[in-house]
Amino acid sequence: ASSLGAAAAQSGRYFGTAVAAGKLSNGTYAGILDREFNMITPENEMKWDATEPSRGSFNFGSADQIVSHAQAHGQRMRGHTLVWHSQLPNWVSALSATDLQTAMDNHITQVMNHFKGKIYAWDVVNEAFADGSTQHRSSPFQDKLGNGFIEHAFRTARSVDANVKLCYNDYNIENWSDAKTQGVYSMVKDFKARGVPIDCVGFQSHFGSGGAPASLQTTLSNFAALGVDVQLTEVDIAQASSSAYAGTVNACLNVARCTGITVWGIRDSDSWRSGDNPLLFDGNGNAKAAYTSVLNAL
Ligand code: XIL
Repeated sequence: ASSLGAAAAQSGRYFGTAVAAGKLSNGTYAGILDREFNMITPENEMKWDATEPSRGSFNFGSADQIVSHAQAHGQRMRGHTLVWHSQLPNWVSALSATDLQTAMDNHITQVMNHFKGKIYAWDVVNEAFADGSTQHRSSPFQDKLGNGFIEHAFRTARSVDANVKLCYNDYNIENWSDAKTQGVYSMVKDFKARGVPIDCVGFQSHFGSGGAPASLQTTLSNFAALGVDVQLTEVDIAQASSSAYAGTVNACLNVARCTGITVWGIRDSDSWRSGDNPLLFDGNGNAKAAYTSVLNAL
């Protein structure tokens, strides 16, 4: 195949990237995007601070730009993200428990309704677990609404849209033996046992230069065995070695329910970790060695 998207499609998977609306007018950027990728995650444009900067006042302008671009170029979308402690406007953090619950439900409802029919999967809750622990992290949602806020968010999301896939997304859950991985695994197992609607788990996969932990494939298969799809949702790897990228991609390819891979940006210069040169294209938009290694692995 002659592109990442086409290569991934040979096995029924997608290959995506994070996109910033403000860069779509850059010809080099849009050229690579439309040549290589068939799934798009808005890098920031669907986060709470962008979509509901003040209570009840919704702004979908920049996210709509990305959705329009995707529709014009036959790309699907991951929605990112509805409930997250970060990039959360101050007004949300200041609410009482009762108001926070109402605001959370309203945010999920308004945002999902706006994009209904245009999104393949939503990251309903992002990064709710604490590093080095099986427990949830402290956040306005956790601290005011308690442990049940994740279940509540998924149930609300399902009530808004019966068709879209609902994902839990996190980082540092790629290594099977990590406490955080086990905590998320227990939650998904419990959700499936009790019929709480969850369809997928996103493994962000922000890796150091060594690449994925050796257990990544085991982790993906163990989660998949619970009855959820799994996806690598924000891949970037310090120094982007060919072998680290190939290992990461192969872990997904070896798991039937690993449905796709998204890298977190196009060129190194677009990366939130630009100092690590962690992506598949250099600052000039030229494919790096890791690009070829991924293309060959797919
Ligand atoms: C990052 C974006 O890439 C940056 O532009 C922004 O300043 C901060 O957020 N986990 C996530 C992503 O789920 O939304 C984050 O994206 C990276 C870590």
